[in-house]
Amino acid sequence: GKGEQWKGRSPIVTFMGHVDHGKTSLLDMIRRTKVAESEHGGITQHIGAYEVKLPRGRITFLDTPGHEAFTAMRARGANATDIVVLVVAADDGIMPQTIEAYDHAKAAGVPIIVAMNKIDKPQANVDRLKKQLGSIGLLPEDWGGKTIAVGVSAKTGEGIDHLLEMILLEAEMLELKAPYDMEASGVVIEAKMSKGRGPVATILVQQGVLKEGDFVIAGYQSGRVRAMFNDLRQPIEEALPSQPVEVTGLSGVPEAGDHFYVVRDERKAREIVEQKQEELRRQRLEPLHKNHLR
Ligand code: GTP
Ligand code: NA
Ligand code: MG
Repeated sequence: GKGEQWKGRSPIVTFMGHVDHGKTSLLDMIRRTKVAESEHGGITQHIGAYEVKLPRGRITFLDTPGHEAFTAMRARGANATDIVVLVVAADDGIMPQTIEAYDHAKAAGVPIIVAMNKIDKPQANVDRLKKQLGSIGLLPEDWGGKTIAVGVSAKTGEGIDHLLEMILLEAEMLELKAPYDMEASGVVIEAKMSKGRGPVATILVQQGVLKEGDFVIAGYQSGRVRAMFNDLRQPIEEALPSQPVEVTGLSGVPEAGDHFYVVRDERKAREIVEQKQEELRRQRLEPLHKNHLR
């Protein structure tokens, strides 16, 4: 029957932390890419979604911005994930967005692994950082606490294998599963209007298997999946739970954070879309009414 076939799925792991503490650089090291170098002003301004195949399994990584302006994206990243890797530069130590990211992770109730980054730097002070971690309730295991804290360097690669080990270990303990035999649903990570391709949405499938041709409702938008691409821009025909995919074919650009789901029944789908459009019209009119009444 529907929703009975639960199977294992790969972990979704979100990198969070203060601006410039090395989230993107660490992911670059893991993926052997150079995203950080190409970023405008060296600042991540959106959520990146990547799938990495390791000998011991796949991991989906979400990269979030650390700049203070992007609180909503950090909250979204924490809510879409199984594990948070809190990246803290060992020279800087704990900073405002470290705390903010930690609070989002706590609110989302997800396990936290600390990556103490930049240990290659002469100014790095791991003991001081461990002390700081203890003071906010993240005392490392080797200091008698419960938090896994791994020293890493995105520059030399030191500690990264250990970090991946810890992530996979934590993921194993979570015994992550999802139903595969039902209409796909999940969350919109980000979306934009592309000149050549129309609305393009990066979505994270959380349940079911999304296929080309599926009728999808995403926030106030809808449409038939025209094409799907993985994070390397390669076309794929279906997306499994925990897989991030780029989707084209929607009528408009949904909002990041929107829920999306497949509707099989064409008539029902059109009904839902009409209701949603009506809801949207009402919402847009509401402020006008309020002004009128005043
Ligand atoms: P935002 O996404 O903007 O918050 O930054 P980020 O956390 O992704 O940091 P990013 O990867 O952009 O790195 C910031 C700077 O620190 C860059 O100049 C990196 O080269 C440098 N950096 C990152 N990790 C390391 C490291 O382990 N060692 C050293 N020496 N430099 C690093
Ligand atoms: Na940066
Ligand atoms: Mg970044």
